Amino acid sequence: MKCKICKAEAAVALRSHNAAFCEKCYAAFFRRQVQKGISSRNLFSMSEKILVALSGGKDSLALMLELAELGYNVTGLFIDLAIPESSPAARAQVEGFCARHKLPLQIVDLAAEGLAMPLVKKALRRPVCSVCGKIKRYWFNRAAMAGCYDAIATGHNLDDEVARLLSNTLRWDASYLGSQGPRLEAGNGFARKVKPLWRLSEFETANYAFLRGIEHHMAPCPYSAGASFSILKNLMHRLEGAMPGRKLDFYQGFLEKGRENFAQAAKREDMPLSPCSLCGQPTSGGEICGVCSIKRQVGEYIKAGRKAEEPGSAL
Ligand code: AMP
Ligand code: FES
Ligand code: ZN
Repeated sequence: MKCKICKAEAAVALRSHNAAFCEKCYAAFFRRQVQKGISSRNLFSMSEKILVALSGGKDSLALMLELAELGYNVTGLFIDLAIPESSPAARAQVEGFCARHKLPLQIVDLAAEGLAMPLVKKALRRPVCSVCGKIKRYWFNRAAMAGCYDAIATGHNLDDEVARLLSNTLRWDASYLGSQGPRLEAGNGFARKVKPLWRLSEFETANYAFLRGIEHHMAPCPYSAGASFSILKNLMHRLEGAMPGRKLDFYQGFLEKGRENFAQAAKREDMPLSPCSLCGQPTSGGEICGVCSIKRQVGEYIKAGRKAEEPGSAL
């Protein structure tokens, strides 16, 4: 197969775009899609300061490299969850990547914050994935606000976004539909959230990461029972196989024609927010925010454990 642009031997074939590219032209295609993703949804400008959440996976590292090479003002953010084996491996990838490309990196150590994920798991005694997501989002925002960043960018790709859209649509969750998209506005103590890879599929990012020699973290999280949305992703993958291009059409169509119809519902269901009395982050849940409440539960768990170890304790 020949490259659609320069007619050299093709390295990647993309049925969704009815095209094949050589290595060099594929890198240019990927860059165009990132640029189009940013400009068509007005995600951010060259003069703004962007914090890029880096998990150690291929998507966020590819995003960081592209944004840096395009000349954006980017800083990486890694949340060290302190999960044995998986967190140190991810951290080493992120640190190595940023050092190799001379990119600034900020690290939040959850163990130092009293929120090491194994401890949270023991203290809460329930599946930890949703709690982990909540803690990560909390720190994304806290770090972005503290560092006066204009936006926090994540590596969510088209497959992530389409699976979420399908899930929201299957439930006709008007409020979630109204607030889904590659740009969520800042306000009420929240930083702007952006997803610049929304036009690119997992396959396309994986190819980019491979061709650019991006090593990425492979060890799966031991706490996740399976990748989230995996059934929906498989379903969309099969649909894409039969009807190439449908995934991007579905998501883009939603952004252009569907989303606005749900925006009012999202606004109506917006809870009034106030700053947490302990950490100052916005919360709709009363005096203290969800993460400070988790911290409190972890503290109580540790205290109860110490008591049980005291000589003469009946526990
Ligand atoms: P996931 O929910 O694991 O698919 O991750 C989605 C996005 O969240 C990634 O592309 C990253 O941008 C960000 N992310 C996930 N985990 C971390 C982490 N430990 N530290 C920083 N960013 C993360
Ligand atoms: Fe958070 Fe696995 S990465 S529970
Ligand atoms: Zn708080």
